[in-house]
Amino acid sequence: MHTVSQYQEFVIEYLQSQLEVKEPKNLYEPIHYILGLGGKKIRPVLTIMSAEIFDVSYKKALPAALAVEIFHNFSLVHDDIMDDAPLRRGNTTVHEKWNTNTAILSGDAMLILAYQYFEFYEPKIFRKLAKLFSKTALRVCEGQQMDVDFETRQDVTISEYMKMIEYKTAVLVAAAIKMGAIIAEAATENADLIYDFGLNLGLAFQLQDDYLDAFGNPETFGKQLGGDIIENKKTYLYLKAMEYANEADKQKLADLFSTQLEDSTVKITEVKEIFVNSGASAATKKAIEEYTFKAFELLDQMNIKDDKRQILRAFGENLMGRKV
Ligand code: IPE
Ligand code: IPE
Ligand code: MG
Ligand code: MG
Ligand code: MG
Repeated sequence: MHTVSQYQEFVIEYLQSQLEVKEPKNLYEPIHYILGLGGKKIRPVLTIMSAEIFDVSYKKALPAALAVEIFHNFSLVHDDIMDDAPLRRGNTTVHEKWNTNTAILSGDAMLILAYQYFEFYEPKIFRKLAKLFSKTALRVCEGQQMDVDFETRQDVTISEYMKMIEYKTAVLVAAAIKMGAIIAEAATENADLIYDFGLNLGLAFQLQDDYLDAFGNPETFGKQLGGDIIENKKTYLYLKAMEYANEADKQKLADLFSTQLEDSTVKITEVKEIFVNSGASAATKKAIEEYTFKAFELLDQMNIKDDKRQILRAFGENLMGRKV
């Protein structure tokens, strides 16, 4: 096994070895741009780490890891169009730097590129990877559509929200980690448990993403702070505030979330105040912990050596403490 930062290095090295400048430039430059902006590489690290958990060299899992990372970046390019986001990883988003049509097509090409990386695998493994990937990718689309539909709905429930984040975010984290198990031909029970570990970690991860969108540090966050508030996203923060706030604040929040303003500075400040005062912000932190601990319980059921369990646990703990 290696350390998480070593795994990150392996992913970055492999990614860089794969990038070639091609024509037409307006198709490939945005792809290189977004892939070159960094990012935490959580999903590909999980893929190669999981291969080594099940006793296969990380090298064998690099193509699948890159498939997952390229797919993730594709989803970000399209997500930023859908969320009207100006900033990604501290830089201008692809659709703002080029234009929306370019971002759509470069995104589409990335989706295809991602699939091509499964061609590195022998038929038996290829089939399993491609099947998991297709199912996951479709779920992500479903989750993304739910997320957008919720913007204009006033009756979204917590359970609908949980399903939405499971689809848009958690299934990809889960699939990323299961791919390592598939490549290592791990026992089915272990592969399924590690999938569920990833799923719960993914839920905690999106809850944390919602939290940071409102309360992250503007110096380091890399995305537009309050973006979810501007877009009237029905986040966990919002739903819990609508549950816990006093009647006056509930009404105020509902009113604020039925607007689309030129300048949202005041809206963001007022909404964040309600998030804190209602206890929604504390409830979100608690939910992040709960899903992380649920992931750890699944880890305890896995038939792997304790030192390996410990590595996955440490990874989950770090995610919980992340600031970006
Ligand atoms: C952002 O994912 C999109 C979500 C699913 C929340 P990350 O937070 O993993 O983004 P990068 O790759 O590190 O920039
Ligand atoms: C993104 O959710 C999920 C996918 C990209 C599929 P968000 O819209 O919350 O992600 P960020 O905050 O823009 O990274
Ligand atoms: Mg977004
Ligand atoms: Mg979004
Ligand atoms: Mg977000």
